[in-house]
Amino acid sequence: MKTTKRRQFLKTGFVGSAGFFCSPFAAVTEDSQSQTDLFITFKTRRSVRKFKPTPVPDEHILQILEAAHYAPCPRNRQAWKFVVIKNRDILDQIRDECIKRGGEQSKQYFTDYMSAPVYVVVLADTQTRNPVNDATAGALAAENLMLAARALGYGSVFCVNSIPEDVTNKILNIPDNYKRVCITPIGIPDKWPETPPKKDLKEAIVYDRF
Ligand SMILES: Cc1cc2nc3c(=O)[nH]c(=O)nc-3n(C[C@H](O)[C@H](O)[C@H](O)COP(=O)(O)O)c2cc1C
Repeated sequence: MKTTKRRQFLKTGFVGSAGFFCSPFAAVTEDSQSQTDLFITFKTRRSVRKFKPTPVPDEHILQILEAAHYAPCPRNRQAWKFVVIKNRDILDQIRDECIKRGGEQSKQYFTDYMSAPVYVVVLADTQTRNPVNDATAGALAAENLMLAARALGYGSVFCVNSIPEDVTNKILNIPDNYKRVCITPIGIPDKWPETPPKKDLKEAIVYDRF
């Protein structure tokens, strides 16, 4: 894909021919144009909570999970698991349980929230030398996942409270030794949300000392 088309793709979220980002790991360090694309990806990733039913090809799911799997982690333990859910019956069970708890007024919210074709539950093993650090690494893996998804034109959201952990633990039969880091959908957004207001960067930076 030509540079202009690729940048347009990142801006609009349009998915063209599959796999234009075939070698993202090689490209980002060697090609300044790809580095520009990476920075566009950072800024255009958005939390998405309503999706089109368009399927996500398995090769995209694997490409996204590979990006997650390359996240930094303590002592290179890679103490994470990525539970990939594509089964509509299972997704509907999660949706229905959330609606049951949230009441009738939550029905539209969870129907939209659970409209993506794929969900990934990011888990961290708690039976390690340092489970706190391993959970932190799980969050880094999730961020890689969301950025890779965005680079391919998919929306996601780092979901913690909206879908209670015990709901996914029960329905997905998750072993006790795993802590859920998040659950995230992957799918083509119904529409890309506006960027929420961001504080002035200056407010977040402290040079040298407080
Ligand atoms: C630790 C954490 C927990 C979050 N939990 C939820 C959640 O339970 N449900 C949800 O819809 N979004 C959740 N989010 C997403 C944030 O609401 C979102 O990132 C924020 O509003 C900024 O929007 P943006 O991601 O589009 O920049 C969470 C994000 C983080 C980092």
